[in-house]
Amino acid sequence: MQTAGKPGGFFITFEGPEGGGKSTQVHRLAAALADQRYSVWTTREPGGTRVGEMIRPILLGRGQAPMTPWSEALLFTAARAQHVVEVIRPRLERGEIVLCDRYTDSTMAYQGYGRGLDLETLRRLQSEATGGLQPDLTLLLNLPVETGLSRIPRLARDRLDRETAAFHQRVRAGYQEMAAADPRRWREVDAAAAEDQVAKDIFRLVSEGLQQAGVRPVQRRSA
Ligand code: TYD
Repeated sequence: MQTAGKPGGFFITFEGPEGGGKSTQVHRLAAALADQRYSVWTTREPGGTRVGEMIRPILLGRGQAPMTPWSEALLFTAARAQHVVEVIRPRLERGEIVLCDRYTDSTMAYQGYGRGLDLETLRRLQSEATGGLQPDLTLLLNLPVETGLSRIPRLARDRLDRETAAFHQRVRAGYQEMAAADPRRWREVDAAAAEDQVAKDIFRLVSEGLQQAGVRPVQRRSA
């Protein structure tokens, strides 16, 4: 495994079951941090690079091409490998705060706990594909499966949204298990609360994390 060192900056990932409002909250947090003069970059998975955006419709498109669980896991991971090298690591190396909508924990939750692929094999695969790059902080936007799915209009549902309720329950339980196993990295947020409340909770948790890590806003240049 490539054991590249921690590149600096601060890497925050947003995770959780469907309908938790992650993308809205990523953008709200980015705006709040930019207001405080932090240098922030937002991105998402699968995506964030040209290769990633080409892989995205294979995984999430409406086409009904059957896909094995390993095909699915490897495509998500392929997009991620590209994303780390092209976007995440370079931004962190410049000292930026990178906000990423889903990352390795999504593969563990959906393809591991949800589809039943071997967790240890998946974990090693994630480690290889990312050069061991782990988030500094992971926000679990947690909410009951039924509440989350009811927020997604039927026609807007992608291939994974359309999975059974039992699948989504396994995903959610997987997230809770991972968060409980590593409380240093994970912070749980009640995503069933009102959007403004969720944004406040996230901002407070992130501010604490940045303070603990000694990450400071960009200094204003003196005239
Ligand atoms: P997305 O369009 O990001 O929307 P949302 O996160 O709001 O649902 O959908 C990504 C979907 O892909 C989502 O159902 C979770 C799934 N997914 C995986 O199954 N494995 C992964 O590794 C990633 C990144 C996402």
